[in-house]
Amino acid sequence: MCLIILANVLNRFETEAIASCYAFSVLPLYLIAMSNTTPLPLPPLSVIPPQIACVADYEAYAQARVMPASWAYLNSAAADQLTRRDNRLAWDAIRLQSRNMVSMSGGHTELTLLGTRYKHPVFIAPVAYHRLAHRDGELATALAAQAMQAGMVLSTLSSVSLEEVAANTTAPLWFQLYIQADKAQTMMLVKRAEQAGFRALVVTIDAPVTGVRNAEQRAGFTLPPHVTAANLAGMPVARQHIAAAGNSPVFGSGLADGMPTWDDIAWLVSATHLPVLVKGVLNPQDARDAIRAGVAGIIVSNHGGRVLDTLPASIQALPGVVREVDGRVPVLLDGGIRRGTDIVKALALGASAVMVGLPVIHGLAAAGATGVAHVLHILRTELEIAMVLCGCKRLDEIGKEVIWQP
Ligand code: FNR
Ligand code: LAC
Repeated sequence: MCLIILANVLNRFETEAIASCYAFSVLPLYLIAMSNTTPLPLPPLSVIPPQIACVADYEAYAQARVMPASWAYLNSAAADQLTRRDNRLAWDAIRLQSRNMVSMSGGHTELTLLGTRYKHPVFIAPVAYHRLAHRDGELATALAAQAMQAGMVLSTLSSVSLEEVAANTTAPLWFQLYIQADKAQTMMLVKRAEQAGFRALVVTIDAPVTGVRNAEQRAGFTLPPHVTAANLAGMPVARQHIAAAGNSPVFGSGLADGMPTWDDIAWLVSATHLPVLVKGVLNPQDARDAIRAGVAGIIVSNHGGRVLDTLPASIQALPGVVREVDGRVPVLLDGGIRRGTDIVKALALGASAVMVGLPVIHGLAAAGATGVAHVLHILRTELEIAMVLCGCKRLDEIGKEVIWQP
């Protein structure tokens, strides 16, 4: 039923009747809320206004619909947010090379990844606590993934349990795993993901400690009572380590002693029948160790700049990792993707597919499942337009020659 409603809305993205109706009813409310010093979050949009033409347009509509402290968590990054900024600037600095008058007959965006056929290379990145953005949380996101035939990576820290998400979507799901301090608990999560039909495990390796989240600190962010880490219910909560003045805040604490290593990845690979990918690789040396540990794929990512500030943009790190991997396993990438042209650039430089984080959250906060579906629709449309204009009718035709060289 939900899906039918969603499909109907999707078919009407561009109808002017809806657009003008929205412009006269909802937009003034939005503007009033934006001008108020302490605005209450607005309800999600029920129709998509014509003012939303690209995924970046969603941000302001999302912000008006999320509590300020939650927004600080969702929409900020570590420290001075330089990596987050560079994730965007690096895409913008790359120019494409056009190629005209090439037949596009039989063109498509399909790919096979880890044994599954996908309609297009745009995946939903793992993002914690979707219920901070919308009351339906990951259920809405997964519904949109199903409608738009997108792969979705569900976070260990999802606010809806992995079983409930899997039971309510036919979208291909991967499970993002944070290795827990207790191996038995890690294994319990892995078994649950296997049983629920997840097709791959994505182990995030770049966040053994939380980044320096100054924006969250300033906003006083804490999880509201209705938002919890649903997959970890009943598991012992990791104790917060607060060092006494003069003591080491990280080293010497239980936290540092229990941090995972490549041996844990090798163990995991042997303990599950699912393909294991690692997410958060920028250093070619990490790629080498990952392959030695037996991973099935590598995700080049700086976590959206949320962990270690002043890391390079992920697209800057991609060529070094691709060179090291040398085709042995697929390489995916996320970080700052906001345009179809960004996707073409990532594929040209060696990625097999991409993942998007914040744009999905912006779509979710602004308009629930419809917003997420629209975000995915925009990206896929822009990707196909860019492919045509670069003379590529299939993803495997997108090579280095589409990057303009002076
Ligand atoms: C994340 N990301 C993330 N990654 C992960 O492996 N597990 C997680 O639970 C989360 N949580 C999370 C929360 C929020 C609010 C954001 C914005 C991001 C990182 C995410 O998977 C991805 O690497 C980045 O979001 C990609 O950058 P863009 O697309 O957001 O620019
Ligand atoms: C984050 C964690 C949950 O980026 O990965 O907030």
